[in-house]
Amino acid sequence: MPLPLVWLDGRLLPLSEARISPLDRGFLFGDAVYEVLPVYGGRAYRMDEHLERLDRSLAGIRMPPVMERAGWLSVFGSLVHGNGGGDLLLYVQVTRGVEPERNHVPQPGTRPTVLAFVAPLPVVPASTIERGTAAITAADLRWSRCDIKATSLLANVLLRWQAADAQTTEAILLRDGWLTEGSSSSVHVVKAARLLTPPQTHAILPGTTRGVLFDLAGREAIVSERRPVAEAELRSAEEIIIASAGGGIRAVTKLDGKVVGTGSPGPVFRRLYAAFLATRAEFSTELPA
Ligand code: PDD
Repeated sequence: MPLPLVWLDGRLLPLSEARISPLDRGFLFGDAVYEVLPVYGGRAYRMDEHLERLDRSLAGIRMPPVMERAGWLSVFGSLVHGNGGGDLLLYVQVTRGVEPERNHVPQPGTRPTVLAFVAPLPVVPASTIERGTAAITAADLRWSRCDIKATSLLANVLLRWQAADAQTTEAILLRDGWLTEGSSSSVHVVKAARLLTPPQTHAILPGTTRGVLFDLAGREAIVSERRPVAEAELRSAEEIIIASAGGGIRAVTKLDGKVVGTGSPGPVFRRLYAAFLATRAEFSTELPA
């Protein structure tokens, strides 16, 4: 649940007083983009990567950046410290704004709606880290610009729900026999001790945690490659690793009811997870009080 103070259109206010018009294009059309970033001990993790991706998503929907880095720093700082700091998940959404009537074609000069709030960072249970988690596969039925972090997430919602119905945590998506990503995570497989993940195209989100795994793999001397991953390679993987800002990195040890590798989180996951914990402070930005 979001913490009580939210940031909406230039000011910090109680969540109970925050109001958005029903004519907001974010509500009517899903005409909006968003970011989700973890805050560890009051510090924003991979902040610049998230802000760069936000600007790329905005450019992808023909909107200019809404704020400079310094502006975001102060918004994040007041939001995080105003809500008591600690380990949080920070959500930012920018919509194209409110217009007098519903019209597919945006009007020039509409002021964007900017919303940000924080919630307690979801705790990944120790048992998930030690034993891994389960996933299903599903057909990727999303649109062809999944590189834009758009709030129109209907397909992702239905896919993630399908995963939950099967008592699993994620739906790993396949398009024409190739791995794309998860409904809300990036997916990596380990083959012959190499960390593989699909190349960055319009078919997948440029995951920030995926970027972290690449950096950490480099430091750990784990060979990593961005190249297409076939369904058969996913199904015969030694390890499967999912990564997201909210869930961190997790090993998938059961896929469609079948054991992955040895059935336990593998050596590549364990090394990357240790490095992930060890570099948290280094990869985080102090926020102004
Ligand atoms: N989801 N792919 C999809 C489709 C996602 O929704 C996400 C993240 C990722 C991982 O990106 P990152 O490592 O930057 O979080 C990949 C966020 C957390 C969400 O929608 O809540």
